[in-house]
Amino acid sequence: MTIDENEAIVKFENVGLRYGLGPEVLQDVTFSLAPGSFHFLVGPSGAGKSSLLKLIYLALKPSRGLISLFGRDIATTSRRDLPPIRRRVGVVFQEFRLLNHLSAFDNVALPLRIAGAKKSEIQKHVVELLSWVGLKDHLDARPPTLSGGQQQRVSIARAVIARPKILLADEPTGNVDDPMGMRLMHLFEELNKLGTTVIIATHNNMMVEKMGYPKMHLDEGWLEMVGDGSMSAPAPRQTDFEGLI
Ligand SMILES: Nc1ncnc2c1ncn2[C@@H]1O[C@H](COP(=O)(O)OP(=O)(O)O)[C@@H](O)[C@H]1O
Ligand SMILES: [Mg+2]
Repeated sequence: MTIDENEAIVKFENVGLRYGLGPEVLQDVTFSLAPGSFHFLVGPSGAGKSSLLKLIYLALKPSRGLISLFGRDIATTSRRDLPPIRRRVGVVFQEFRLLNHLSAFDNVALPLRIAGAKKSEIQKHVVELLSWVGLKDHLDARPPTLSGGQQQRVSIARAVIARPKILLADEPTGNVDDPMGMRLMHLFEELNKLGTTVIIATHNNMMVEKMGYPKMHLDEGWLEMVGDGSMSAPAPRQTDFEGLI
């Protein structure tokens, strides 16, 4: 699958979402994201941020409207073609969803193993990345023995290790202190410099203002794009992270 640099990588047109017979929790959501863009998804609790991300990672279907990923209308894509699309989307779940019977190392190695990476490469990259997020001494630890913040960092490492085309993160710094939060944000920035399109749902306004990326602002299911005048995105830049992720 090739990605057209001029085509939206994520596109929503008049998307509505309701759970069961309830009210619409997303209403007429329309936006396009350029490949390589970086957005914060902000808005009060209950605004629909997690629901919007779930639509992008194909965990939910919209009640109405059109969603396309990588230029393909999801509704008309065959079931067989969906898993390869889904594998190009890295997700940091709010509740981590780590595999508790596997070590931190094996949780993070999983996407590389699925992608068929060499054992020596897996060893090198996983150790480097877990060290970078401060978990060098916890490679063999199983998630239940780690703190919330440590599990969050394992979950972030797992989401970025295979360099997804799209990275979605739901409150990824909710369980860590501000210096670690900034470090994790830097990791997302470095991934973005390598060409990944990034959307981060967060409550941390300090970080949003400091980093200055455009915002997708949700309120009671209505979306407003803030500070994002065009479809153009910066070209991938050189990064000091080339070997790390
Ligand atoms: N599984 C669900 N079933 C029914 N309602 C849900 C479900 N998940 C979320 N909601 C409702 O959808 C709305 C948006 O929730 P959510 O997307 O979690 O918002 P946010 O992530 O911004 O806090 C809320 O009113 C919430 O109660
Ligand atoms: Mg949420």
